[in-house]
Amino acid sequence: MIKLDLNYAGDALVADMASSNEVRADVERAYTEMYEKSGQGSDFLGWVDLPAEISAEHLADIKQTAADFRAKSEVFVCIGIGGSYLGTRAVEEALKPMFASGSLGNPEIIYAGHQLSEDYLSSLLKYLDGKEYTICVISKSGTTTEPAIAFRLLRTHLTKKYGTADGRIVAITDCKRGALKNLATKEGYKTYIIPDNVGGRYSVLTPVGLFPLAVLGIDIEALVRGAVEMRDSVRVARPDFENCACAKYVLLRNILYRQGKKMELMVQYDPRLFYFIEWWKQLYGESEGKENKGLFPAGAGFTTDLHSLGQYIQQGERFFFETVLSLDSQEHTLEVPFAEDDADGMNFVAGRRLSYVNSKAEAGTCMAHSIEGGVPVVRFEIPRLDAKTTGALIYFFEYACGLSGYTLGVNPFDQPGVEAYKKNMFKLLGKQ
Ligand code: PA5
Repeated sequence: MIKLDLNYAGDALVADMASSNEVRADVERAYTEMYEKSGQGSDFLGWVDLPAEISAEHLADIKQTAADFRAKSEVFVCIGIGGSYLGTRAVEEALKPMFASGSLGNPEIIYAGHQLSEDYLSSLLKYLDGKEYTICVISKSGTTTEPAIAFRLLRTHLTKKYGTADGRIVAITDCKRGALKNLATKEGYKTYIIPDNVGGRYSVLTPVGLFPLAVLGIDIEALVRGAVEMRDSVRVARPDFENCACAKYVLLRNILYRQGKKMELMVQYDPRLFYFIEWWKQLYGESEGKENKGLFPAGAGFTTDLHSLGQYIQQGERFFFETVLSLDSQEHTLEVPFAEDDADGMNFVAGRRLSYVNSKAEAGTCMAHSIEGGVPVVRFEIPRLDAKTTGALIYFFEYACGLSGYTLGVNPFDQPGVEAYKKNMFKLLGKQ
């Protein structure tokens, strides 16, 4: 389903992938640890088998509540941050029709609680004055500052507007602990549970992602099916370095890291993948960046950023490699029109589809960055952007992330460093 192309990776990397016995051995150990669930943080491996275990009843219940929310919303406000936000946004941006404004029964989604901007939330509250809306608040811990403040403001607004919050708020949180759980129980909000053994950034295929995506009318069954199929192919006891894209990806990024490439730049040539890369950045950054180790996950959108970061990528410091997400097909057909006067000089591509022009931009860029620029470039070939493929991609990068973290020798399922800013912020805010 998803292929890894090494044509622009450079001969040295391809040779190293065959001969790096030390890294291969570490990847093999990581495979065993993932397969046997015996590595660090393995009590957070609930997401590994979850897609295959989601019951039809559970999906039906999510879809029913979602249909009810759709029917009464022009706007659906989704509150959450980090792993309680980015997965939904990645899938939404990949699959929702572009430039579609919301209407009753087909709501637009607006995110909140993913930053602390006063102007953002003030403007949102004003916007909601004139809209029919519902809220979904997502926080596993139930104590995260950004979503908690946004939810306090939004639920106050909603209750004032409608006189009651009945049937307009869904909470997605831990089954027992946390302020959000207590509040949801007290107020009687419909609640979905995030399993204990699934961490935030691995939670998109739990109600965290499934409920909001269902409200948007996205085919969550197909999303889950894609993940299950991918699980069947990547979840094996030993890596197949010759044929498996997942094993190759984990191997090559760890080889490059040990050779001094400290950053992985993931790029797309279709803006629908912008938030997929944001999600990937969070997944890999929080999973691997610890103990003074880990590739820095960065992102770029081409051809847009070829007119900004492109100069650096071509000729700046050589401390990174590039991973391309390459889409094989587009849903629509649009040809460059012929112009009699050829005033803009574009007749050389007249009659060509835009996707053809884009594919040549991609090939030209891969050549420039790898051959002339000396940047190893690897390409994931993605057949199309539909719900099933997106589910498969999510599972692919989650599993590869666990494997890669274990290869690196860290716990890919905790995030102790995130506490540092909170501690200082709370102190500065005078929290007791
Ligand atoms: O991956 C993670 O665990 C984090 O990014 C969390 O998702 C994020 O901090 C939000 O946490 P919570 O859902 O508890 O509000």
